[in-house]
Amino acid sequence: MVCLGNICRSPLAEGILAAKAKGLGWEIESAGTSGFHSGEKPDKRSIRIAKENGIDISQQRSKQFRAWDFEVYDIIYVMDSSNYQDVIKHAQSDEERAKVKLIMNELEPGININVPDPYYGEFGFENIFTMLDQACNVIVANA
Ligand code: 4NP
Repeated sequence: MVCLGNICRSPLAEGILAAKAKGLGWEIESAGTSGFHSGEKPDKRSIRIAKENGIDISQQRSKQFRAWDFEVYDIIYVMDSSNYQDVIKHAQSDEERAKVKLIMNELEPGININVPDPYYGEFGFENIFTMLDQACNVIVANA
């Protein structure tokens, strides 16, 4: 799960999918395309909305996406088109490029809906949670 800062959207996506995929043996992690917040906990607002939904993401720490993540992970979900551009730059083959997917395309294939950046507060964290929850339901249902 990849966003820009790895403190708002992708920590929520990681926590939500991990909760739904319990027992499936998946390795689920998140990262940011930037290292602006490396080592930091998720944003308080993400921690709060997760907690309200029974998910604890407070132990996560922000880290930056690295090219070698392509070797470790089968699928790399990005939150928006800007994340997509930043991640795809690191891909070294068509196989790696095919691993990168906009997460909301799981729910609405081919429509390329972005999960909006909630950092400056215009798009509520509750809405972010709902979008990611719906997308993760589809990810697990299709597993
Ligand atoms: P995120 O949100 O990409 O969902 O973690 C952001 C967090 C921090 C910044 C931007 C987006 N920032 O510019 O510091």
